[in-house]
Amino acid sequence: MLRNDFLWGGAIAAHQVEGAYRAGGKGLSVADVMTAGTVDVPRRVTDDIEAGESYPNHDAIDFYHTYKGDIELFGEMGFKCLRTSIAWSRIFPEGDETEPNEEGLAFYDDLFDTMLAHGIKPVVTLSHFEMPLHLAQTYGGWENRELIDLFVRFATTCFERYHDKVAHWMTFNEINNQYSYTNDMFGWTCSGVLFSRTDDPERAMYQMSHYQFVASAKAVMAAHAIDPDMSVGCMVAADAVYPYGCDPADVLLANDAMHSTFFFTDVQARGTYPHYALAHFARRGWDLDITDDDLAVLEQGTVDYIGFSYYMSNTVRHDATADVSTSTSCSNEHMVANPNLTATEWGWQIDPEGLRWVLKTFDERYQLPQFIVENGIGIIERPDADGGIDDEERIEFFRAHITQMEKAVDEDGVDLMGFLPWGCIDLVSFTTGELRKRYGFIYVDRNDDGSGTGRRIRKRSFDWYRHVIETNGEDLG
Ligand code: BG6
Repeated sequence: MLRNDFLWGGAIAAHQVEGAYRAGGKGLSVADVMTAGTVDVPRRVTDDIEAGESYPNHDAIDFYHTYKGDIELFGEMGFKCLRTSIAWSRIFPEGDETEPNEEGLAFYDDLFDTMLAHGIKPVVTLSHFEMPLHLAQTYGGWENRELIDLFVRFATTCFERYHDKVAHWMTFNEINNQYSYTNDMFGWTCSGVLFSRTDDPERAMYQMSHYQFVASAKAVMAAHAIDPDMSVGCMVAADAVYPYGCDPADVLLANDAMHSTFFFTDVQARGTYPHYALAHFARRGWDLDITDDDLAVLEQGTVDYIGFSYYMSNTVRHDATADVSTSTSCSNEHMVANPNLTATEWGWQIDPEGLRWVLKTFDERYQLPQFIVENGIGIIERPDADGGIDDEERIEFFRAHITQMEKAVDEDGVDLMGFLPWGCIDLVSFTTGELRKRYGFIYVDRNDDGSGTGRRIRKRSFDWYRHVIETNGEDLG
């Protein structure tokens, strides 16, 4: 049985919904210079906004202007909470101002008040792939230690302003994406750095992660000092990694491949660097900028819960090699398709039992509360002749994942706070910038070529999910 206060809801992120990229004094963010892509064509990061190029985050689904109606729809589904992020560049447009932008703060005041008026608790990520562009271009992104203080200023400003409205926070969205240091997009979105322009991308990844760990730990401490009722989690992309076969070489490889997640949760949940990481740093001969003061901060600022996204599992085979430099579904050069699973059109393998595996594994490793803050399936959809959208595939997907989630709670004893389907309203895809990769219970009539009325349409899954929430997950239809 799920707890009575189980947080059913949905998840979105500022840059993927808000649009209005220049409104209310907002500065440019790293997302504002990312062009549109597809599953085969990677998004490009441009130095400036190029005339004639398409930048899907500039308008997104115009949530900045439509949030009142959209939140009403979430309320109709019975959402207990909504996860979104605060666009850092709305609050500190350049990132290094000493005073925040009041208009940006006021926007989120009203957004959170609107949610609360519908009985929806805001769950907030501080940095969701949208750091101010100025920090990336002038400071060199997270390669620069100065970003720690700038982030902590931003975090503290938000905690002080919203502590009586927001109880659950996360610091860096999918902080571990940058582990894919052969892929420029992930360095850019996590840290404002193009790996291909660094001397040693792997070293840069570890150094930037360290500064973020310190910034995150300081933010956790600041939140607790401002209001002990606030809890702060880490947020990682948790993809289960399986060995392809029982060859011990595959098993060891799968174990190592999980470092792409565990390295980040180990430091943030335990407050120390794991032995395997220290051994790796020594083997590489790196002298990373990690001070004794930093290590003390990491120990004190451990997170209150593990927040994670789950979309797929991956499988590794020691004698296979894949090109991962632009892949959005695979981060390890030994990854292969799992013959037991099917995949979405974007190559993401559908594996509900993998979600249980992740929940069990985190629980056994940390014994901390967990929060599934993203899960979902991207589908190409169009309204049928009657104007409705019959998304049975999405209902099947969630039914299977929620079933496994409930087994993890009932049979494995996992302490689970909530479940938040990603993109509960159609939005701009992060990896490809497409709108046609639709995740929502609510269809948005807007297309990649800019056409569409923006009208919102309830899909069939809308009523299905409302009933799931109503029965606290007892009846999955
Ligand atoms: C996670 C991100 O990677 O997965 C979201 O936190 C993202 O921002 C989601 O949108 C799904 O990925 P995509 O590429 O399908 O949008």
